[in-house]
Amino acid sequence: MLLRIITDIHGNLQALEAVLADPPGASADSTLCLGDVVGYGADPARCIQLVRENCRMVVRGNHDAGASGQVSLDRFNWEGATAIRWTKSVLDHGEIKWLSLLPHFFELQEFFLCHSYPADPESWTYVLRRNQALASISAREGQISLIGHTHLPGVWSEDGSYSEIDSGDFSRVRLINVGSVGQPRDRDPRAAYLLIDTEKRTWEHRRVEYSIDAAAARIREESLPEVLWQRLYRGT
Ligand SMILES: [Fe+2]
Repeated sequence: MLLRIITDIHGNLQALEAVLADPPGASADSTLCLGDVVGYGADPARCIQLVRENCRMVVRGNHDAGASGQVSLDRFNWEGATAIRWTKSVLDHGEIKWLSLLPHFFELQEFFLCHSYPADPESWTYVLRRNQALASISAREGQISLIGHTHLPGVWSEDGSYSEIDSGDFSRVRLINVGSVGQPRDRDPRAAYLLIDTEKRTWEHRRVEYSIDAAAARIREESLPEVLWQRLYRGT
């Protein structure tokens, strides 16, 4: 089975459409989403619609929780909170309710999927250091965890060592950050997603070009904070 994993779309419709059209992933048997469908970008409703149409399972991200009133906006920086307030104002009741009902995690075969921190998915902890990776790996013994949240694609081996390599097998890898569809922060502005072949037990980080100009124009059109479109070009 070919799994396509997407996360951190952040209302960026142009990036999401490009990822969904990318040929290797377009033939996937299932698409799974690790959250943050909304926030930052200017097309949250269209992104929710496409995710609902395309994804077999979706977990809750912190921006999804913010937009559905389940997390205080005090936990976000100014531009993040501003974008969430705007997002709430343009979504309808059904879209807000859908965000509010997303689970914090789910499991599929040997995979544990959540937005941020497998050791405590509701804490919104960022996995950036070896100790957080090791805590995640030991909390999900026998499983392979798939996460987003930092917008930095990468893999951790069972000993907690980190790598940015693009593809590999699951002989030692226990934790994978998928990278962000709609707001990459690893200085590569292309949209990111992950493919997993469950029979071969291999994974591949994919990058896809999309029209940053169009996504940036939409953010400007809605008068959202300037940094939100500027950072799309930098990939930071
Ligand atoms: Fe995010």
